[in-house]
Amino acid sequence: MKDAAPQTIYLRDYAPPAFLIDDVQLTFKLAPSATRVLSRIHFRPNPDAKDSVFFLHGENLTLIRTAINGNTITPEVTDEGLTCTVPDGPFVFEAEVEIDPAANTSLDGLYMSNGMYCTQCEAEGFRKITYYPDRPDVMATFKVRIESELPVLLSNGNPVAQDDGWAEWSDPWPKPAYLFALVAGDLVNHPDSFTTMSGRDVALNIWVRPGDEGKCAFGMEALKKSMKWDEEVYGREYDLDLFNIVAVDDFNMGAMENKGLNIFNAAAVLASPETATDANFERIEAIIAHEYFHNWTGNRITCRDWFQLCLKEGLTVFRDQQFTGDMRGHAVKRIDDAIALRAHQFREDAGPLAHPVRPESFVEINNFYTMTVYEKGAEIIGMLRRLVGAGDYKKALDLYFARHDGDAATIEDWLAVFTDATGRDLTQFARWYSQAGTPKVTVRDEYSNGTYRLHLSQSTPPTPGQPHKEPLVIPIAVGLLDEGGTEVVKTTLLELTEAAETFTFDDLSGKPIASIQRDFSAPVILDYPQSNKDLAFLLAHDTDPFNKWDAGRRLAQDVLLRMVRDDAAPDAAYLDGLATVLRDDSYDPAFRACVLLLPSEEDTATALVDAGQTPDPMAIYHAHEALKLLLAQQLQDSLPRLYADMTVTGAYSPDAVATGKRSLGNAILSLMSKLDGGKQASAQYTDADNMTQQLAALAALLKIGKGQPELAAFETQWQNDRLVMDKWFGLQVSCAAPRLAATTAANLTAHPAFDLKNPNRFRAVFGALKSNTAGFHDPSGAGYDLLADWLIKLDPINPQTTARVSTSFDTWKRYDPDRQAKMRGALQRIAATPHLSRDTTEMVTRILG
Ligand code: ARG
Ligand code: ZN
Repeated sequence: MKDAAPQTIYLRDYAPPAFLIDDVQLTFKLAPSATRVLSRIHFRPNPDAKDSVFFLHGENLTLIRTAINGNTITPEVTDEGLTCTVPDGPFVFEAEVEIDPAANTSLDGLYMSNGMYCTQCEAEGFRKITYYPDRPDVMATFKVRIESELPVLLSNGNPVAQDDGWAEWSDPWPKPAYLFALVAGDLVNHPDSFTTMSGRDVALNIWVRPGDEGKCAFGMEALKKSMKWDEEVYGREYDLDLFNIVAVDDFNMGAMENKGLNIFNAAAVLASPETATDANFERIEAIIAHEYFHNWTGNRITCRDWFQLCLKEGLTVFRDQQFTGDMRGHAVKRIDDAIALRAHQFREDAGPLAHPVRPESFVEINNFYTMTVYEKGAEIIGMLRRLVGAGDYKKALDLYFARHDGDAATIEDWLAVFTDATGRDLTQFARWYSQAGTPKVTVRDEYSNGTYRLHLSQSTPPTPGQPHKEPLVIPIAVGLLDEGGTEVVKTTLLELTEAAETFTFDDLSGKPIASIQRDFSAPVILDYPQSNKDLAFLLAHDTDPFNKWDAGRRLAQDVLLRMVRDDAAPDAAYLDGLATVLRDDSYDPAFRACVLLLPSEEDTATALVDAGQTPDPMAIYHAHEALKLLLAQQLQDSLPRLYADMTVTGAYSPDAVATGKRSLGNAILSLMSKLDGGKQASAQYTDADNMTQQLAALAALLKIGKGQPELAAFETQWQNDRLVMDKWFGLQVSCAAPRLAATTAANLTAHPAFDLKNPNRFRAVFGALKSNTAGFHDPSGAGYDLLADWLIKLDPINPQTTARVSTSFDTWKRYDPDRQAKMRGALQRIAATPHLSRDTTEMVTRILG
């Protein structure tokens, strides 16, 4: 293989396809190292095309035979595809190729996982299966024949016929190649059914490896709830007779929405009380919903090109967030989403990898399945809904489905639907899609004679390739409280459109306390220096649950910053406010658990950077540990009572109420273990009848330097459960003392169950290393070196996962010269590796900047 200079693809170069396809017939003769793929494709010239060059993508294919209208031809073949001259008018193209699924460790295209064949085609994996115009704006109906001795043979759409050794499938809905899927294996199913709103029966299946049957029930319930919810809330009905989900052990991401045949990372679908945590259950419910919702937002209406990825992902994430909120409560969901957005998307937006929600160029599209495209993409939709209101949002969505069903659409199409449905001009709003970076909204206020003025101003920092930013439309939800805690101005949506604007509130009887950015109304950083007294007041009195929580969060961050910088003792306002909320039964436990949760060490590092300082990860670590100890001491008398109050009786259920109780109970357990030497945690470990309790107890023990016997027992107990063992690998690294983190991770890579070819296992160890902030940034540089070593080993096996995990280095410029030099060295060492993949090359080049 030669290393061609990677080519950059630009949005502005989009051109319609030269040829369209009416239908596709595929035959797969499956064999591990020599699978034959026969294709028969009806092409016709695209009347809207600008040129007539016939080009089909194809990578790593051995071409056996090509024919046009039945006549064998000899096309021109390169590393990237095939061209040949074609007749005028419609024609039939046929090809036979050979591929090697057993050797495909990239987990992209057709590959094997534990003896099972499966596919991942988004974004550009279909070209590793056969020659095809592998672009989302070419949509066709597919008929698929699979020949294999394996008992279960699946593809998209509805089954047509099958017998020993073969099966035929037909998908009546035109789709782009990235939604193609095939599965063949020795699988068992968990069946069920759903009756749609128009009374059609749909057969549902979750297909798993024998032995995993007992872990499907929850996923199936989540699927049925999702189908019902999409009918009730968006009026969307399912459109095939069958919906299949397959669990796969080796998978690069969470899951994939292939038409009628969703393929899932086993970790994103399999769950039982004994093996999955509450957080796993909630994530599974959300991912099942996400993939199911794609049937309308992604499949029926797809993307014209990959620059429009946020069209389907932002909208589908927004929909799954609404769903989870409806299922489990909106306040805590909003808090969880804001925590994740600030921790990961703001980080991306503030560093060398910042890019617009709709990027303008890429080298490898797989590198753009990012927090920005997905989560900020969802925030943009949330802002649109806030701005136009729920009623008009619904009108716009109805119009979107009516107008664009069957289309490969763009962000312009999406925005036009809102303009046409509501009359609102979205020209300025559209900048959210093109401008990278997190806006900062600065708030200053003044009060005199009954009038309160809020001076809001906005600015967005420069990002790579975008030195200058324009003002955005920013919806800021504001409420005002009087000194007694009464809401004197209910939640009001201010629309900030200028660089600076003043909003006035009249007829007040005294200076109010402002609650700004309620419900996290926009993905912005708020610069509003409220006193700790006001923040404590909001923590106690704000009627908006998000801002109530956020006030506590801001207090905690302030406390931590003072501890890091000046070794200052925590502010009593914080400790008292926290204790009050914690003991107040009128707040549900899930909310109280959110209030008790400290910002992460990475969050504190970011706060220091924002304050113009260089973060010292060890100093941050010590401040966090000290604060947790102080909290434990301060709350000592209440902890046993609170812990006991959070006991859940009866059979385990992952519902929101029980989850909330365990969440608060386990947060308290972690504090208690700082004082009782792990007594309670050991007891919980022994008594636990579910993974949530077992794992939390083990974590609490490891965090105080104990738990080695439990760790060994855990391994013995769970050595045959891959997903639980991922937790065992990860927990040791994330709970390790900073100076031991890299060694712990290194030792685990030598464990016989460490498997470089399994992304879950790789991420368990190295995702945990990244999350152990002080450990990863240990001044020795051991964390950096270890990660670089393993990224270099993984790259030839699995470029996508390598590129993804390389983002652990993206904050390198924040640190002191010594750490910077070590991280730069690690990155340069990766960059200098011969034959480095296009994926990883693009990432490390961008990170180095
Ligand atoms: N469309 C899938 C989802 O969001 C994810 C596919 C990710 N593909 C990739 N190449 N990273 O559900
Ligand atoms: Zn998605």
